[in-house]
Amino acid sequence: MYIKEITLTNYRNYTKTTIPFENKVNVILGENAQGKTNVMESIFVLSMAKSHRTSNDKELIKWDCEYAKLSGIVEKHRGPVTLDLVISTKGKKAKYNHIEQKKLSQYIGSINTVMFAPEDLNLVKGSPQVRRKFIDMEIGQVSPVYMHDLSRYQKILQQRNQYLKQLQTKKQTDLSLLDVLTLQLSEMAAKILKKRFDFLQLLQQWAEPIHKGISRDLETLKIEYKNSIDVSEDADLSKMLEAY
Ligand SMILES: Nc1ncnc2c1ncn2[C@@H]1O[C@H](COP(=O)(O)OP(=O)(O)O)[C@@H](O)[C@H]1O
Ligand SMILES: [Mg+2]
Repeated sequence: MYIKEITLTNYRNYTKTTIPFENKVNVILGENAQGKTNVMESIFVLSMAKSHRTSNDKELIKWDCEYAKLSGIVEKHRGPVTLDLVISTKGKKAKYNHIEQKKLSQYIGSINTVMFAPEDLNLVKGSPQVRRKFIDMEIGQVSPVYMHDLSRYQKILQQRNQYLKQLQTKKQTDLSLLDVLTLQLSEMAAKILKKRFDFLQLLQQWAEPIHKGISRDLETLKIEYKNSIDVSEDADLSKMLEAY
């Protein structure tokens, strides 16, 4: 698979530009602040429907414009595929081969990208939140189910927090709904945790020999997921659920 070309409309500093790529290594050269990183970012956005360096989609839209559009032609084994993503203040719309995708989670993963940028140092130096976000992005690219579970988790968490507030202010007194929400939240959390463990195990398998090579056999890379409920990676789903 490779990206044949990408067209940026009102994206960052680009008004309308088509950039063709080769099926090999592509080098982008330019003066400072000409938009090199913006091009790299746009490839990531086309793949993930969000930026690697900002969670505020508005920043991606060219100043004083209503929307930004990214279009890509991707050569896949089975032929070319077109991707379109429109970002406006009202939200995002994605198309795969000109067909609108009802859910972004269906669109994400149409092309898989690995971004390596200076910001990645935060993976080691930054807060746990940065690491969780990285893991979520990687798994999300290959598992729409995971994306779905994550957003379910966020929704239930919000509902539960709201309910807790209502209990506190005595607007609600029934504890049975709280139990239901707690159980639902735990189920999602356990599923997410299991997937994260599986992913990190794979990452360990791939990264360890590479790190060995870089350190000339002097170091062994070990990736460990310190989770809040303190279960080990070989626990099964029901154990995780119980712990939650
Ligand atoms: N939303 C935006 N609208 C217009 N210009 C933008 C927007 N966001 C960033 N820019 C401009 O993009 C340029 C930086 O591009 P960047 O890709 O970071 O440069 P570099 O080539 O150094 O990597 C700056 O000139 C900045 O003002
Ligand atoms: Mg740059």
